[in-house]
Amino acid sequence: MTEIRNIVILTGAGISAESGIATFRGPGGLLEGHRVEDVCTPEALAYDPVLVHRFYDLRRAALREVEPNAAHRALARLDEAWSGELLIVTQNVDDLHDRAGAQRVLHMHGELLSALCAACGTREAWVASLPPGSVCGACRAPALRPDIVFFGEMPFQMERIEAALATCDLFVSIGTSGAVYPAAGFVQTAGWHGARTLEMNLDPSMGSVHFEETRIGAAGNLVPAWVEEILAQN
Ligand code: OAD
Repeated sequence: MTEIRNIVILTGAGISAESGIATFRGPGGLLEGHRVEDVCTPEALAYDPVLVHRFYDLRRAALREVEPNAAHRALARLDEAWSGELLIVTQNVDDLHDRAGAQRVLHMHGELLSALCAACGTREAWVASLPPGSVCGACRAPALRPDIVFFGEMPFQMERIEAALATCDLFVSIGTSGAVYPAAGFVQTAGWHGARTLEMNLDPSMGSVHFEETRIGAAGNLVPAWVEEILAQN
């Protein structure tokens, strides 16, 4: 068996579920009460920016009420201790990986606590109140928007992710339903390049068939145990 040096970890809403953030597709899902096209598309932002901003303001407020859980903390410990390459690619827009102390985190679907200027692409911190039309600190255009990847938009830093997938020895997916591309295809990309593949999820996902190994259970139990396992061979 090849030695594992380079790891890519993909996380989804399931890793934050035990912190109290509802997943997208489960009961009480984040989009419940809203059609996706009403709150998560560029068209929605253009048509009803007040509604879209309010949706993300509520999610931002909810974020202040939650804490990282054992799975986030275990990945932060792995990040600190792992001497090889490691990249935590998260689809989550919360900051729980970061608050747990992980450094090598890439937010492919954006971040609730960041604002993006639609005119010049500059990012800045999302301060208490940024209503639609808020002015960009860099270019002065009234174009600050949530720094979130909407449906139909390309996720961030895809080149960096593809490069990491092409060179990793192990690809691990945690708490994602495998319903949304391109993230849902990462397991196949990593597999084509020769990586071993492991999924940890509460129940079998749409992508389970593509993984060499699937562990079924709560991330808060499975992830700390796996981190101990992998660190034992570091
Ligand atoms: P989903 O809500 O689609 O899937 C969450 C997965 O986590 C499900 O398969 C659950 O079974 C699993 N799960 C729930 N609780 C868990 C637990 N305690 N431990 C382990 N697994 C658990 O969320 P995502 O796959 O993250 O995109 O959704 C992907 C993307 O769809 C999101 O990033 C978002 C959404 O549209 C954008 O915002 C662009």
